[in-house]
Amino acid sequence: MSFSGIDPNFTLPPRFYTSTEIFEEELERIFYSRWIYVACEADLPKPGDYITLKIGTRSFFLQRTESGEVHGFYNVCRHRGHELVQGETGNCRRLICPYHNWTYDLNGNLKHARGMDADFPKEDFGLNPIEVAVIGGLIYVCLSSPAPADIEQVRSMLTPYLAPYELPKTKIACQKDIIEACNWKLVIENNRECLHCTSNHPELLVPLYSSGFGKGLDKDNVQPDERRFQEKLQEKEREWENLGLPYELIEFPDNLWFRTVRLPLANQCISHTLKPEHACKKLLGNFKKPEGSGLSLWTHPNSWNHFLSDHIVTFAVFPLSVDKTLVRTKWLVAADAVEGVDYDLENLTHVWTQTNAQDQSLAEGTYRGICSGGYMPGPLADEEYLVKQFLSWYSDQLTETPVH
Ligand code: FES
Ligand code: FE
Repeated sequence: MSFSGIDPNFTLPPRFYTSTEIFEEELERIFYSRWIYVACEADLPKPGDYITLKIGTRSFFLQRTESGEVHGFYNVCRHRGHELVQGETGNCRRLICPYHNWTYDLNGNLKHARGMDADFPKEDFGLNPIEVAVIGGLIYVCLSSPAPADIEQVRSMLTPYLAPYELPKTKIACQKDIIEACNWKLVIENNRECLHCTSNHPELLVPLYSSGFGKGLDKDNVQPDERRFQEKLQEKEREWENLGLPYELIEFPDNLWFRTVRLPLANQCISHTLKPEHACKKLLGNFKKPEGSGLSLWTHPNSWNHFLSDHIVTFAVFPLSVDKTLVRTKWLVAADAVEGVDYDLENLTHVWTQTNAQDQSLAEGTYRGICSGGYMPGPLADEEYLVKQFLSWYSDQLTETPVH
């Protein structure tokens, strides 16, 4: 794949959003080769719990073992290749293939192989594993082996930021899937800037300053409309110091694939809600009182996450085809929080349900424009530098990642 002649300060030429050949290449070089955010520990609370997932054409499942680890395997039996587990979620202590009942334990070892002689080497026919990494309760997988070793660097940098929220002690209060009629990159590009926020996200901008999401963190170059944000930031930084909460911006260091920062919430908000009240009475982790900030985390190629003192919202993007993209949102609350008592589901999910719908409309509208026949790459503003950063990372993957 050549990017010569493509201006890095502009959006991509139309073929990158519409060509099925380029889409196939993206699956190979990015989604089958890189660490991909897919789920979180709260998806698998008990030993034996499993979830099935698909990236591109590859299907696999994650399961919690008896000893509490999360393992991942391709969803295929080693006998004649029948799909092993069915449905989106479930629980079992033995994986029994429906075809001829070959049976595997939770570590993927073949325990019973119907029809085979007594001396059949069962140890050679365990399930085909995938690489799994859990960081602060977020589950990343890699469908190639060996997986990129940079996961350990990411883990050591991110763990202190995520630890205060104790994600493994949460439960999923709600999950919503949206299928957007657009190329997956438009979902990510849209997420990597907040230039569109003031004209499109009235609900989101109640708890959020538009600063910090592509502008406003350059302390030497403060724009007039960022004054209030900067003042709040300084005040909160002192509080975060006292609370021992990491807050410094880490932005794609050493070519790594994440950006994280703690940002103050706007309008006295203490959660991603429309009123300055918590969305869930039970707070997460070590928080003793609601904290008016959010830790945000973005990972290439497919996620963004917001950690609040009373809940977590995580977003995973799965490309389904060149023009269809699944956006999966999960809202997590403390494991012992009770719906209707500690939180109201509509209140908890309102801001991001509205924001997701608005972003879906923007991404789909952009896709229709790109497919109009008249689209030409457009210039990116300074405030859209994180879009440039994503596109630069993307072009590196397509030119440098070997296909496995
Ligand atoms: Fe699974 Fe035969 S295909 S037991
Ligand atoms: Fe948006």
